[in-house]
Amino acid sequence: MTVVLAGATGLVGRAFVRIAGEGDYPVTAVGRRDVEGVAATIRTDFSAPLALPPADVALCALGTTMATAGSRAAFYAVDHVAVLHFAQAALAAGIRHFIVISAVGADPRSPVFYSRVKGETERDLAALGFARLDILRPGLLLGRRRERRPGEALFQRLDPVLRRLLPGPLSRYAGIPAATVAAAMLALCGQGGEGTTIHHNAELRRLASAV
Ligand SMILES: NC(=O)c1ccc[n+]([C@@H]2O[C@H](COP(=O)([O-])OP(=O)(O)OC[C@H]3O[C@@H](n4cnc5c(N)ncnc54)[C@H](OP(=O)(O)O)[C@@H]3O)[C@@H](O)[C@H]2O)c1
Repeated sequence: MTVVLAGATGLVGRAFVRIAGEGDYPVTAVGRRDVEGVAATIRTDFSAPLALPPADVALCALGTTMATAGSRAAFYAVDHVAVLHFAQAALAAGIRHFIVISAVGADPRSPVFYSRVKGETERDLAALGFARLDILRPGLLLGRRRERRPGEALFQRLDPVLRRLLPGPLSRYAGIPAATVAAAMLALCGQGGEGTTIHHNAELRRLASAV
């Protein structure tokens, strides 16, 4: 199985590269920095259409935060435009299976800007016509980051308590380790079939447990 991965330097992307390496799956990383432990790197900042090699699956773990991006337009340029450029390049390379990390609460009609952009991105990816599209909607990602994100760090510490307070469907808002999301992505890579499927925390944990 061959994989192209955008976002290989991020929290989930790094976890994916580690797990895929253990399973000996060749990964081509696509992004603006070189990545250790992958078969190849394609350098791009995603601001313009790009070319990708043929592969079995394209994985997208791209994203930024409003704090890092600094404006709504800059956030949109990563979480929507860059994701769509990567997806269009995957389609043009003949890749039929696309897996993207979105976020719990994604909804193109959401009054919350972050959730609205995530929802619009999901909607526009679905319109591209991949044979198979897996949309992952994790809750708060748990793991050690290279940069400081004080808000996230606070919620990471509170997660064991919050988790007990979030019963039933609300549990999809609880934290989930980035490594679990990465393992779920790997499990999905090996699945055949067609259509668009959305996966929340519980399904991601179930998929990861099979890896
Ligand atoms: N944080 C959470 O709790 C949370 C919860 C649910 C869903 N999500 C979503 O899950 C996905 C993965 O999250 P993560 O925490 O693993 O991401 P992350 O650690 O922030 O990494 C993001 C990746 O996107 C790349 N990227 C960011 N801005 C870029 C730009 N302007 N040009 C090119 N590449 C850029 C980064 O590359 P560089 O290394 O070059 O910057 C990195 O590889 C994201 O879509 C995120 O929105 C996050």
